[in-house]
Amino acid sequence: MRMSLSPFDLTHWLTAKTELVDRSLNRCLPKATAKPATIHEAMRYSIFAGGKRMRPALVLAAAEACGGTDEPALPLACAVECIHTYSLIHDDLPAMDDDDFRRGKPTNHKVFGEGIAVLAGDALLTQAFELVAGAAGWPRYSHRDLVLELAVASGSRQLIAGQVADLEAEGKDIPITQLRYIHERKTSALLCASVRLGGMSANCTSEELEALTNFGTHVGLAFQVIDDILDVTQSSETLGKTAGKDVEAQKATYPRLVGLEKSKKIAAELTRKAYASLETFNGRAVAMEALARYLLERNH
Ligand code: IPE
Ligand code: IPE
Ligand code: MG
Ligand code: MG
Ligand code: MG
Repeated sequence: MRMSLSPFDLTHWLTAKTELVDRSLNRCLPKATAKPATIHEAMRYSIFAGGKRMRPALVLAAAEACGGTDEPALPLACAVECIHTYSLIHDDLPAMDDDDFRRGKPTNHKVFGEGIAVLAGDALLTQAFELVAGAAGWPRYSHRDLVLELAVASGSRQLIAGQVADLEAEGKDIPITQLRYIHERKTSALLCASVRLGGMSANCTSEELEALTNFGTHVGLAFQVIDDILDVTQSSETLGKTAGKDVEAQKATYPRLVGLEKSKKIAAELTRKAYASLETFNGRAVAMEALARYLLERNH
């Protein structure tokens, strides 16, 4: 599919983009010493705990595919990482998945207590919208469009809906259609919004936005199928979070519903569908293509 002659070095690209995003997050989050220090320390603890930064990478990769640059996309890349990190802090709480490790470290509530962890999540979610407000506007996309994109993806019909359905499915035998509903919302919605926001930051055309939506949706679905698979196949050390927790909590997952081998096939098929939408970009989507492959083949 790739048109360029020189091979694309994803490791090099990811290192550079991660540094850029980390510098930008460090600049835009309140200093750890800003009062009240506890909350700012807690926000920074989880943000800089060592996440893969896949959502910001997808924002920047989509911007690139649409002929844009990093600078205008960065506030949006940081915003999606803030929302993602908030969702993880809350996901790990004893009232939800009750996890002690995340990103190779004790979870936020283990270090700061449950009250501060709830508030650190709330603060990161709010921070995301402050970041969007500070982004530039573009001829085709206003701040209203950006805020709406992020609010809908993380709201009670998408990410939160998925988390609700995930909790309600614990210990139950649900049909595969319901599992897909959960994955579309708890994971795919924010990945899809990430690539769409990247496109918007490059003032993309409606045709490009449609291709990004299709790509993001399928990569997002594949992402959660892989997450389910890795919970069974990898060690806690590799994952940076406790392995085997889905089985223990009787979570509805692809391996539980269809088995490991079929789950792998489904993830590969979803990734293939994501690739198909990259044709619109005439070889400019090298980073998105490489990221989709990396996400399928990852071990953590
Ligand atoms: C974990 O996301 C939560 C899911 C939506 C499956 P990541 O695997 O992207 O977590 P980090 O950001 O690298 O910690
Ligand atoms: C988390 O899904 C999805 C969100 C946080 C929105 P999981 O519960 O499967 O994620 P992990 O396995 O804890 O990272
Ligand atoms: Mg969960
Ligand atoms: Mg969890
Ligand atoms: Mg999981």
